[in-house]
Amino acid sequence: MRKTSINLIILFAVLCIFGCNKKENQSKTQPETMENIQVSDYGVTSKGDSIKKYTLTNKNGMKLEVINFGGIITSLTAPDKNGKYEDVVLGFTKPEDYFNGNPYYFGALIGRYGNRIANAKFTLEGKSYDIDKNDGPNSLHGGKEGFHTKFWNIEPVKDAKFPTLKLTYTSADGEEGYPGKLTTTVFYTLTDDNTLEISYEAETDKPTVVNLTQHSYFNLSGNFTKTITDHELQINADKFLSVNETLIPTGEQKLVKGTPFDFTVSKPIGKDINSNDDQLKKGKGYDHNWILNGSGLRSIAKVYHAESGRVMEVLTDEPGVQFYSGNFLDGKFDTKTGGKNEFRTGFCLETQHFPDSPNQTSFPSTELKPGQKYQSKTIYKFSVKK
Ligand code: GLA
Repeated sequence: MRKTSINLIILFAVLCIFGCNKKENQSKTQPETMENIQVSDYGVTSKGDSIKKYTLTNKNGMKLEVINFGGIITSLTAPDKNGKYEDVVLGFTKPEDYFNGNPYYFGALIGRYGNRIANAKFTLEGKSYDIDKNDGPNSLHGGKEGFHTKFWNIEPVKDAKFPTLKLTYTSADGEEGYPGKLTTTVFYTLTDDNTLEISYEAETDKPTVVNLTQHSYFNLSGNFTKTITDHELQINADKFLSVNETLIPTGEQKLVKGTPFDFTVSKPIGKDINSNDDQLKKGKGYDHNWILNGSGLRSIAKVYHAESGRVMEVLTDEPGVQFYSGNFLDGKFDTKTGGKNEFRTGFCLETQHFPDSPNQTSFPSTELKPGQKYQSKTIYKFSVKK
């Protein structure tokens, strides 16, 4: 009698442990659907990875769509002056265009190093490193197989105040030539005041360099066949970095005053873009790093599209922003609103440390050492002006 009840207790305990473990494993492998985060199938890569799409919705009905390939934002809606929510980020219509190269880096998380490193090499603590050369003589956006091509683990964050995704990716020591195993975490949060918050964290086991950013292209008109030259832009920066023919900073910090690079007072992107200016010729338009005024998390730029009334404000704690006027968009792919992704139909405001910092000692350092934590935050806030 006694023996039977002990056996029953043991059986019950075993079943309970088995049940608990099963639940724990499930939560690791199964994407969880929450009220304001929906998970759906997106596509399958050529390597056989099955890609999921996460749709975050805030209380106003604003939507953010993210896939676990490249941490790519495939869609983000924002209201116009009549309250109509439309997609404001460029993207492909076919999943395979993201999976097989994404030549424009549409919507992607960029790492380990946003923008260019001259001659695809740098020296750190006396050791020299050759990294992937994928842009003429230089390395661009972390190399050919940068973070924009990687499979990210995504978990919706439970008990967060607003819908939040936690994305993680571990980059092996030596990947694309960079030293150190880098553990990277990115949070995407969609708040109820129509704000997309992006927080980046990284840790390494060897000295390395890191410069993470997000490569969404915006077009606030909601029509991706229209150019962005009518968007009015203001950037809180008195200086920008001049570049050479391969878009590497020369080291010179130029005052924007009296040049087409002066966005201290809001003006249409197209106002001076075709001026006879050596720097504009090198970039085929704007493709430069502005040295942001101030420090800490602050408002650094504002974009206004009069016809729709949409406004986007950018806040960051980074020292620079790459304002890129979509000069390499070449009409080879379909847009989500019909037509093709043509020249200057989207712009990027890539918050970052300065390009080529590992080779330019006068720039703020991008080094990360074991025991240190890389942390950075950028906010894109949408509103309307009537
Ligand atoms: C960044 C670069 C540009 C270009 C785009 C991607 O903004 O500065 O020169 O490479 O990415 O096309």
